[in-house]
Formats: sequence, structure tokens, C-alpha cells
Amino acid sequence: MNSPHAPHAAIALLAHRIPFVSPNPIPSPPSQESLNPTLPFVTVTYAQSLDGFIALPDRRPLTISCSESFAMTHVMRTMHDAILVGVGTVLGDDPRLTSREDILGVEGVAAVKRARGEPDGAGLHHPRPVVVDSTLTKFPYQTSRLMGHPRGKPIVLTTTRYSQERRTTLESLGVEVVVCADSRDGADGDTAQVDLSDGFCKLHAHFGIRTIMVEGGARIIGSLLRRRKSSTDKSEQLVAPQLVVVTVAPTFVGNGVKVIELTGESKVVGGSEGLVQLADVEYRQFGRDMVVVAGVKMS
Ligand SMILES: NC(=O)c1ccc[n+]([C@@H]2O[C@H](COP(=O)([O-])OP(=O)(O)OC[C@H]3O[C@@H](n4cnc5c(N)ncnc54)[C@H](OP(=O)(O)O)[C@@H]3O)[C@@H](O)[C@H]2O)c1
Repeated sequence: MNSPHAPHAAIALLAHRIPFVSPNPIPSPPSQESLNPTLPFVTVTYAQSLDGFIALPDRRPLTISCSESFAMTHVMRTMHDAILVGVGTVLGDDPRLTSREDILGVEGVAAVKRARGEPDGAGLHHPRPVVVDSTLTKFPYQTSRLMGHPRGKPIVLTTTRYSQERRTTLESLGVEVVVCADSRDGADGDTAQVDLSDGFCKLHAHFGIRTIMVEGGARIIGSLLRRRKSSTDKSEQLVAPQLVVVTVAPTFVGNGVKVIELTGESKVVGGSEGLVQLADVEYRQFGRDMVVVAGVKMS
């Protein structure tokens, strides 16, 4: 069931925090100058239970958002140029990653178009889908609903470990493959994974993507919430999302996947060192869920 108020509340909460570029923004967002010329603005978002789980055991999907916070997420999708998920989420959830009119409702769609400065007759904005897959061998291109996305075929960020055979197949189907620097900062320790900061820079440089919404899953979000220096910027710039939006649903799950899973020594030490620190925190209730919106301290 849609709540007609949720999209308006979401626009009021988020539009001044996400520099989505539109000719007639309401309310006024930061100016275009606030967009970094090389690194896009990155929002990380997920929904978790009250005891901190974002998926069930064996990485089975967990549906916990209420209709109002779900509508908030779909408003957020209309505010970003691209939406990014890890290949684990594609395999587990087969997401569509579109902005859904049926979730926003007629009034919500009209409000979003007004906020974007678009005429009533314009189609609803969908973010361009982006998948992170270190070898290109996991992305299930034959079955994935992303292959029918209204903004076109997905962009896949990969590493130098990619399979040439798969690359040829994917490109023949219209998928854009972007080879990124290898990183060993990811959740999988010693295995080279996609250097996400390099991937973000390439999305900006090659496709003009200025804003990215990272919607999962656990490993990708965990990688982004760890503090580390940029490999693409020698100025010691911290690689971190600029905005974190977390929906907390009032439900207990008991067991499953947490968004940050520390391993080795970090697990023993615990604490928040090594993880991003939040700033400018706001809280809003959407239906029965609590939504936490925060910036990230960059020092
Ligand atoms: N509650 C929510 O809001 C929400 C939202 C989305 C998803 N989920 C849940 O999250 C679960 C999926 O999470 P997941 O951790 O299995 O998969 P994921 O985060 O979607 O994808 C992780 C995979 O991406 C690849 N990868 C490449 N570079 C990476 C890097 N730098 N850092 C991290 N990963 C990198 C790795 O595989 P390769 O190295 O082999 O490429 C890795 O295993 C599902 O259960 C889904 O339902 C929950």
C-alpha cells in the first residue's frame, strides 16, 4: 500500500543533501560546484533489522522495509545518475534497480518530476544500473532482470582478472565493461577485487555519472564503510561515501548477514576505528521504520 505523504517527506529530507542536477530543484540542493570534478557524489543505503541484519543466513534476501521507507528508497533512486550493486546482490535478489511508479503513486511521481524540474509528461527518471564483478564470470547476464533495464544495459566494473571470453559475450550484448584497478582492500582479503574509487572515477569520466547510489549488498557496503586512502588520488584523500542513508526496521531477525563483518584481528579489537565516522545526522520516521541520514567525516 502506498502512503501519499512518503515521497514528499523523502524529497524534503534528501533533496538538500544529494546534489542531483536539475534545472528547477525543490528545495534548492547544493550548487553544481559542490560536485567533485573527478569523483562522483556517492550515497550508500541499506535497510537493516533492529538487531543489525541486512540479509538472512546463506545470504537469502530479507524484506524488512515498510511501504513508506520503501517509497523513500525509490525517491532516492530518482535523485541519482546511477545505482550500483555487487554481483552477490544480482545473484541473490535479481533486482530490477528501477524507480517504480507503482511504489511512488501518482502524487509521488508528480512530486519527483517537480523536484527534478521536469514536465508532467516526462518519463520517470531511472538511474543507470552498475554491477561490480571482479572476473565477469558471476554476472548472470542470461537471466538477470538488469538486462531489460529501461536506461539500457548495465555497466559492469571489473578488475584485471576479468575473463576475456565473458567480456566479448557481454559487450556483444551491449553491456559496458569497465576495467578498474585491482584492490586488496575489499572484503575478500587477499583476492584482488574492484578498486571502487577507481571505478567511481571511471564512471564519471566515461559516462558523465555525477551521483551514484550504492544499494548493496553487504560486502560492497562493508568495503565502502571502511576508512582507506584513495588509490587514484595521491593527496591522501579518504575514500568514503558522502551520504549514508540507513533504514532501521523495528523487527528482530536473530541470525544472518551484517553490513560490516570484521575478520581476524579487527574482530577481536572491535570498536569504530577503521570505519567511517558520521556527521550531520538526521532521523526521520517513515511508517514504522526509522531512517537515519548522515554525512561522513572526511578527516
Ligand atoms: N537489506 C538491504 O538493504 C540489502 C540491499 C542489497 C542487498 N542485500 C543483501 O546482501 C546480500 C548480498 O551481499 P553480498 O555481500 O553477498 O554481495 P554484494 O555485496 O552484492 O557483492 C559482493 C561481491 O562483489 C564483488 N566485489 C568486487 N569488488 C568488490 C569490492 N571492492 N568490495 C566488495 N565486493 C566486491 C565480490 O565478488 P567477486 O570478487 O567474485 O566479483 C563480492 O563477493 C544478499 O543477501 C542481499 O539480499 C541487502
